[in-house]
Amino acid sequence: MGSFAEFHARSIHDRDAFWAEQARLVDWKVEPKQICEYSNPPFAKWFVGGQTNLCHNAVDRHLAARGDQPALIFVSTETDQEKIYTFRDLHAEVQRMAAILQDLGVVKGDRVLIYMPMVAEAAFAMLACARLGAIHSVVFGGFASHSLATRIEDATPKVIISADAGSRGGKSVPYKPLLDEAIQLSAHKPARVVMVNRNMVAFTPVAGRDVDYATERAKHMNAVVPCKWVESTHPSYTLYTSGTTGKPKGVQRDTGGYTVALAASIPHIFEGKPGGTFFCTSDIGWVVGHSYIIYGPLIGGMATILYEGLPIRPDGGIWWSLVEKYKVNVMFSAPTAIRVLKKQDPALLTKYDLSSLQALFLAGEPLDEPTAKWISEGLSGKAIIDNYWQTETGWPILSICNGVEKAPSKFGSPGKAIYGYNVKLVDDQTGEELTGADQKGVLTIEGPLPPGNLQTIWGDDERFVKTYWKTVPGKLVYSTFDWAVRDKDGYFFILGRTDDVINVAGHRLGTREIEESISSHPNVAEVAVVGVADQLKGQVAMAFAIAKDTSGLTSDAARKALEAEVMKVVDAQLGAVARPSRVFFVTALPKTRSGKLLRRAIQAVAEGRDPGDLTTMDDPAALQQIVDLIKG
Ligand code: PRX
Repeated sequence: MGSFAEFHARSIHDRDAFWAEQARLVDWKVEPKQICEYSNPPFAKWFVGGQTNLCHNAVDRHLAARGDQPALIFVSTETDQEKIYTFRDLHAEVQRMAAILQDLGVVKGDRVLIYMPMVAEAAFAMLACARLGAIHSVVFGGFASHSLATRIEDATPKVIISADAGSRGGKSVPYKPLLDEAIQLSAHKPARVVMVNRNMVAFTPVAGRDVDYATERAKHMNAVVPCKWVESTHPSYTLYTSGTTGKPKGVQRDTGGYTVALAASIPHIFEGKPGGTFFCTSDIGWVVGHSYIIYGPLIGGMATILYEGLPIRPDGGIWWSLVEKYKVNVMFSAPTAIRVLKKQDPALLTKYDLSSLQALFLAGEPLDEPTAKWISEGLSGKAIIDNYWQTETGWPILSICNGVEKAPSKFGSPGKAIYGYNVKLVDDQTGEELTGADQKGVLTIEGPLPPGNLQTIWGDDERFVKTYWKTVPGKLVYSTFDWAVRDKDGYFFILGRTDDVINVAGHRLGTREIEESISSHPNVAEVAVVGVADQLKGQVAMAFAIAKDTSGLTSDAARKALEAEVMKVVDAQLGAVARPSRVFFVTALPKTRSGKLLRRAIQAVAEGRDPGDLTTMDDPAALQQIVDLIKG
């Protein structure tokens, strides 16, 4: 084991040699001719001239050495199912799914949208797309018809793969009616929809469009569908995420760079070993699910657990019981989930044999110190590793890398800049790089972004450049839109977003999208949505709206009724995940004299903090109304 500092320095200063070495962790049909091509910044091309396949590296490559070892372990505490697929089983299922897609005309470069609950077929679907060189776009199952329609329109999929329903807390959650509505709303219509029928909710297939997965699968039991070798730079998938504007961005990932980045992360960051077991509790609809439920562990030759259910059902020990049963080595979750578990009987943490577990990784939102301490003590001495990244990057930017060199964690810090990332803190006013300790700046990454990071925004190179990149003296840097400080030891502390993105229970949401949805209610004239600190979820969305017609809003009951209606609109359009915790009605919103909404001030008073400098504010009474409402 070498020094991490040296490893990191080499990844930056001897970049191509470093990544050429990492590229040996994966199989290439044709070896790359050039490691990094950066002649047209900020567009970086990795492993140019190389040909590979993501599904080959995740599945086929392991058949010889571990074909009969577990690859995918599907556990549903919602339907009481547990099924182990070996690499050989997975290979067969993925080929069946690929054969179905092929029958429907899916070829390299076509988009396939996946809107599915946490079932094994979702994994088959993703891997089948990768196998064919088709570009998948997984949409989180918690999103409703409007969100789904926006994504269908942007990705223009030839085929959609979906299911009748998911299940949450023992209750079925219909998917099919939301999908039908979304397709109706969307200007683009998919040619075909593959329906996985779990027999949870009744539905009528759309004639000529919907095909039944089980029927088609039965026709392809012996399917042989070879992997399509694609150029390293061929897009593997798009994944939509929120930003400053209301329109979600399709983060576009390549094939070769992503495969190498994940292959390298398994040993270096996670200390995962082939034959081991990885348990990531995220959802396939988020980036963490893409990288560490599906692709990363499988590329690393590990078994991966795909879990459908709540962390507290049948009881708060369910995850730990899975760690014991499947000898989980690496676990990955989010701070919110740990805060949920913290409310359960602490004895559940010591009830199971957790000796296989090496470390618990947490990401997606700030890890508060009480939660970190609670889980660290509860898991007596296991490493708790906070790591920081984004949908855009595909794999961690900050973490300690125990697979390179053992390093201590610091409470409240996701660690240091990972190899490949040339992280700079930048003063948002002057654009100057901040090199001293404990200075607050915007966390940026000097280009080229390392392998596995976004190539561009799907169909919108200009938006990619304009949104993320700026020139600071002599350098082109990518902005994460996060504030951070770095201490004297190189450990970073993340201090929140610089834009209007909020983080609810580890789910990234755009306040502008929620505002647009609320504004579509016929009685809403104007609205401001802000993120407000919450003990359990980290943040919740809170809305302050001006009603068009206030004549009926004379009682608490009337205001409550309108609030419930507005919440229903958000539920139906975006999904319950985006529902504000409260919708307050006000007669004015605090603005500057030039008419700009003072979101920071609203957020501050909604959190009971001092709003700071208000010299530019037009109407102080507007803010006072919010102060009074919060005091309630
Ligand atoms: O604000 C940061 C926060 O989550 C954002 C990215 O969210 P998403 O695209 O959903 O990707 C999550 C991948 C783990 C970041 O811009 N964030 C993520 N990890 C952390 C975090 N904030 C504090 N600490 C973290 N470890």
